[in-house]
Amino acid sequence: MLKRELKEEDRITILSGAGISAESGVPTFRGKDGLWKGYDATQLATPQAFAGDPEKVLEWYVWRRNLIGQCKPNPAHFAIAELEEAGRDVVTITQNIDNLHREAGSRNIIELHGNIWKIRCSAGCPAILDVPRDFNPPGDAPRECPTCGKLLRPHIVWFGEMLDPADIRTSEERLSETDVLLIVGTSGVVQPAASLGYIAKSAGAYVVEVNIEATPLSSMADQSLFGAAGEILPRVFEPLLS
Ligand code: APR
Repeated sequence: MLKRELKEEDRITILSGAGISAESGVPTFRGKDGLWKGYDATQLATPQAFAGDPEKVLEWYVWRRNLIGQCKPNPAHFAIAELEEAGRDVVTITQNIDNLHREAGSRNIIELHGNIWKIRCSAGCPAILDVPRDFNPPGDAPRECPTCGKLLRPHIVWFGEMLDPADIRTSEERLSETDVLLIVGTSGVVQPAASLGYIAKSAGAYVVEVNIEATPLSSMADQSLFGAAGEILPRVFEPLLS
């Protein structure tokens, strides 16, 4: 399946996007799936939207948590987690906030865009809190910061916000020393995640794209595997798992 044989000692890095969770039923951001009550998701995931109408943005996250809370990891998430559990050197860098890599069993995860099951103070108090899965009403989360009383917000990187510099640094370090990079289910249009693959490529990694269609990253990849991630990843990793 891969033109380059995977070796047991290979450092393998996954860069995942919304497409890896599509088979789990998590709606993507773009296109008709990204619409909620007629709003474009990319217009809701912004600091400006939260400042202008926090209730609307928080209500959208209640809806998303209810949806994501019903979704389970799929064979793509499990294949990566199994590889890690089998003792291989695997790191998953994800743009997804759905927590499904962790639920599948992966532990070496960098969540570039945060996690929908975490919240933090919108005024900057440092604590990051877990959203109780059994919160009442379902999908909602505590509203007031326990330290200062200001509104809590999702621990998510919104459009126009900076990624955590520590996450960027750790990702760059890993990508510059990885042997194989699999870019899975991302449209490759949102920066800086989209450009991370080039770090691995220029450092000599074998870059494989897994997607149902070609993307701006296809021309850079050494190999493109077109199809559903849940079908392709278990087959790609099979030689290292048997
Ligand atoms: N298997 C593999 N790839 C798939 C599958 C599948 N089953 N289904 C869809 N895809 C691909 C699509 O072809 C597309 O290229 O997944 C990609 C999803 O693209 P986007 O929805 O743009 O998701 P992503 O690249 O993760 O977006 C990046 O943008 O909206 C923000 O913060 C949000 O993290 C997100 C970021």
